[in-house]
Amino acid sequence: MSAAINAAQLDAREEPVVAGDAPRSICLLGSTGSIGTSTLDIVARDRDRFQVDALTANSNVELLASQAREFGARVAVVADPDKYADLKDALSGTDIEAAAGPDALREAAARDNDFVMAAIVGAAGLEPTLTAAKRGACVALANKECLVSAGTVFLEAVRKADATLLPVDSEHNAIFQVLETENHEAVEKIILTASGGPFRTWDKDRMAAATPAEAVAHPNWSMGAKISVDSATLMNKGLEVIEAFYLFGVETGQLDVIVHPQSVIHSMVSYTDGSVLAQLGSPDMRTPIAHTMAWPSRMAAPSPRLDLAEIAQLTFEAPDLERFPALRLCLAALQSGGAAPTLLNAANEVGVAAFLAEKIGFLDIAAIVEETMSRAASQGLTAAPSGLDEVLMLDRTGRAIAEELVTARRR
Ligand SMILES: NC(=O)c1ccc[n+]([C@@H]2O[C@H](COP(=O)([O-])OP(=O)(O)OC[C@H]3O[C@@H](n4cnc5c(N)ncnc54)[C@H](OP(=O)(O)O)[C@@H]3O)[C@@H](O)[C@H]2O)c1
Repeated sequence: MSAAINAAQLDAREEPVVAGDAPRSICLLGSTGSIGTSTLDIVARDRDRFQVDALTANSNVELLASQAREFGARVAVVADPDKYADLKDALSGTDIEAAAGPDALREAAARDNDFVMAAIVGAAGLEPTLTAAKRGACVALANKECLVSAGTVFLEAVRKADATLLPVDSEHNAIFQVLETENHEAVEKIILTASGGPFRTWDKDRMAAATPAEAVAHPNWSMGAKISVDSATLMNKGLEVIEAFYLFGVETGQLDVIVHPQSVIHSMVSYTDGSVLAQLGSPDMRTPIAHTMAWPSRMAAPSPRLDLAEIAQLTFEAPDLERFPALRLCLAALQSGGAAPTLLNAANEVGVAAFLAEKIGFLDIAAIVEETMSRAASQGLTAAPSGLDEVLMLDRTGRAIAEELVTARRR
């Protein structure tokens, strides 16, 4: 894999994205999820600053419609076409436009708003987010699977359209805040912190019997189900390493992971002079969300303030790649490049969904990802996708193989 462009560097513009005091119009892809509702919480606290243009959900019409009414959205889109009538009903008596289906989702992203929060979970968010990037939008990216699944293709679109990409993931947002783009050559390492998830101290036998409820019970962060399971397997940290590779233009060997159970330091950058710059904060996504929404200035966010005296201790440990093979698989996929990250992401989405549906055990998730990647490689699926169609083809293939493996392992 060649060195990536540095999207954050690319975006280090000095001037505000929106001139003057006009409210910033926003499109919120995935408004009903954890990131989506936190984003609207920020909007609710500073209504003069933002105007909600478009909101989208997958199927949660009730919440989508109530958000659209509360924030005076112009358009509300539900991805599931069967939910169109429900959405239309729920919005009756308003002049909010209702729409449904994948085309409508892309159309929402293509609207001429100032800021797009990409907060759909999984590769399902790729096409609308790419649509926003292709029109040169300012895109705040929570949906890390876009970059994992379609890294080079996605960044090419960003670069070509001169779009702005702002990292929302707390680790990448932290790096974005402390990365001295003017001193890129002096960057030694980017160190992503990981909480270690709910099973940090569990042995493999105990993890084998873990339930979905235990896996989603994250010790520090409140998040959607998929990313919570990814945090329990440490797949999330692996996806983030791949995301960081694409965002920050460093070599794979410059990316490190350290387990930091308190989730106070959100990530660090070390420099050749021995300095290590870190961003700290309470584990509350409203801080990085607000950072992207106000960027390049800052705005108030209601996240609890850090009380370091009360926290007293910050601890660190190396990640255990034997107990958490998902992280090892991500590092290997990043090293091999080509089709591997797309296949890994697809297989993981299938594995996590099957685990949440109690079809497979917790340890089966990583096993299915590993087996999917080795089967795909033995079918000659190794070349990097050169465009969206190839990404989608690889994604479908990875899912099909993983589904077969789920069926074979079904309990
Ligand atoms: N939560 C966090 O703290 C956090 C932190 C860092 C990064 N992220 C990243 O942010 C993204 C969102 O995470 P989340 O925790 O907010 O997820 P979430 O709570 O599960 O919300 C996902 C959102 O995407 C929508 N959605 C799901 N499947 C869809 C589909 N096929 N088509 C269109 N929309 C779909 C959901 O709609 P419905 O409600 O209708 O299902 C919902 O609005 C993920 O990529 C995650 O890795 C999250």
